[in-house]
Amino acid sequence: MLNTESNDSQIILELEKLGKLDKKFKHQKKLIALLNHKSQDIRILSLKNLAKIQDSKYLNLFQNIAMDKKYSLVRREAVSAIGRLNTTKSKSFLLSLLKDKDPNIVLQSLRALDRLKILKEIKKDLTKLSNHKNEIIKKYVKEILSQENKDPKDIKKDNSFLRNIVVNADVTKVLDVLPDEVIDLSFTSPPYYNARDYSIYKSYKEYLEFLATVFKKLFRVTKNGRFFILNTSPVITPRISRSFSSIRHPIPFDIHSYLIDMGWVFIDDIVWVKPEASVRNRNGGFFQHRKPLGYKPNNITEYLMVYRKGNNQLIDKNMKDYDKETIKKSLVKKEYETSNLWKVAPNSHKLHSATFPMELCNRVVDFYSYVGDLLFDPFSGSGTFAKSAINKNRDFFSTELKKEYVDYFYKELLEKTSGSHNYKKMDFKKFKEYLLINGHPVNKKGN
Ligand SMILES: C[S@@+](CC[C@H](N)C(=O)[O-])C[C@H]1O[C@@H](n2cnc3c(N)ncnc32)[C@H](O)[C@@H]1O
Repeated sequence: MLNTESNDSQIILELEKLGKLDKKFKHQKKLIALLNHKSQDIRILSLKNLAKIQDSKYLNLFQNIAMDKKYSLVRREAVSAIGRLNTTKSKSFLLSLLKDKDPNIVLQSLRALDRLKILKEIKKDLTKLSNHKNEIIKKYVKEILSQENKDPKDIKKDNSFLRNIVVNADVTKVLDVLPDEVIDLSFTSPPYYNARDYSIYKSYKEYLEFLATVFKKLFRVTKNGRFFILNTSPVITPRISRSFSSIRHPIPFDIHSYLIDMGWVFIDDIVWVKPEASVRNRNGGFFQHRKPLGYKPNNITEYLMVYRKGNNQLIDKNMKDYDKETIKKSLVKKEYETSNLWKVAPNSHKLHSATFPMELCNRVVDFYSYVGDLLFDPFSGSGTFAKSAINKNRDFFSTELKKEYVDYFYKELLEKTSGSHNYKKMDFKKFKEYLLINGHPVNKKGN
C-alpha cells in the first residue's frame, strides 16, 4: 500500500483512495516524504491526507509549507490543512497571513480563524480587511462583521402574524408597513410592461423604476441569506403602424443591474422552456420568404432569475436554522431537474391571462424553502404560488391589486388546498388595523 516508488498516476490514484484517516494511520512517514515530490498534484494530495489525521504535531510542517512563496496552490492547501488542525496555537500565524498578497491565502486564513471561533477577538484585524481590494474578501468580512453586530433575537424574528394572508392592495404600500426580515422566500411574476390589460405605465423607464422600488422594499423584509426568484421575459410593444417597427424590451436584463445595485446577490439564471406549440407563432413570414434579416424565432423561454440577500458562504448558516425534523420533512427525495433548463408547460386560466403553472411553483418551493417557511408573492394574481406553498406545508403572504383576482384566489384556497383553512383576506385599511391589534404598529411611511 502507498508505494512511493510507483509512477505518478499510480501514486495519485492511491492517495485519492485513502478515505478517512486518523492518528493510527501507518504510512504517515510516506506521506511526509511525498511532500517533496516533483509533482505538485502529489504534494497537494499528500498534504490533504496528512491534514485528515488532524494531529497538531504537524502544525510547524504545514506552516513551513504555507510560507514557501514558490507554489501558490500548495500554499493554499497548507493553510487549509492548518485550519483542519483546529488548534489555537495557529492563531498568530493565521493572523500574519491576513496580510498575504494572494487573496485565496487570506480567505483560507479567515476560514481557519472562523473555525477557531475567535472572530470576535480579532474584530480590529477584520475591520482593516473590510477595505481590501479583493471583492470576495471584502464581502466575506462585511458579512462576518454584520453577523457579529446582529442581535440574536433578530435572526429568528416572529412572522406568525403574517401567515396565510392575502392583502388586496398596492404592494408598495403593504411592504412599507411590514417589519424587517420576516420573509423566507419570494417568487413572483410582475406585471408585464403594458403587455396586458392590468399594467399601464407612462414609459419603460417608469416601469423599471416601479419594479425597482418594489424589489428594494422586498430586500428589507427578506431574511438575511434567503432567496428571491424573479420570473420575467422580454416583452414586445407592438408597432403603431406599418412604417414603424415593434420594440422588444429585455426586462430580465434591464432590471438585473437595479437588483444588484440594491444589494441582491445574483445566484442563477434558470430558463423556463415551453412547448413551441403553446406560444405565438412569429415564423410565418420568414417561413415563406426565407430572406436573411427577416428571421424571427418563436419565443419559448422565460427567465427565473435567482437572487439572494447576503453572500454564498452563509447558505450553511441558513440551513442550520432548522431542526432535524424540519430538515427531514423538507428533503427533495423524488427525481428532480438537475439542469437550469426547466421544461414546463404554461398554464391557461379562465380569469387571469398570465398565471404560473403549478409545476413551476412546486419546483421553486421544493428547492428554495423548508417546511414551515413563510413564502411571499408580491404580485400574486390568482395565487398559484400561495396554493403551492400550502400544499407543500409552507405558509404564504400575498399582495394583489385587483379585487376580482383576490376573491378568486381566496375561494380557490378554501376549496382546493389541503391547508388548515385559517386564511385571511383583507384590504389595506383592515391590514393596518390587523397589524396594530397584533402588536406591530405600522411605521410612519405606512400611515
Ligand atoms: C403576471 S401577474 C401574476 C400572476 C400570478 N403569478 C398567478 O399565478 O396568477 C401580475 C399581477 O400583478 C398585479 N399587480 C400589478 N400591479 C400591482 C401592484 N402595484 N400591487 C400588487 N399587485 C399588482 C396584477 O393585477 C397581476 O395580477
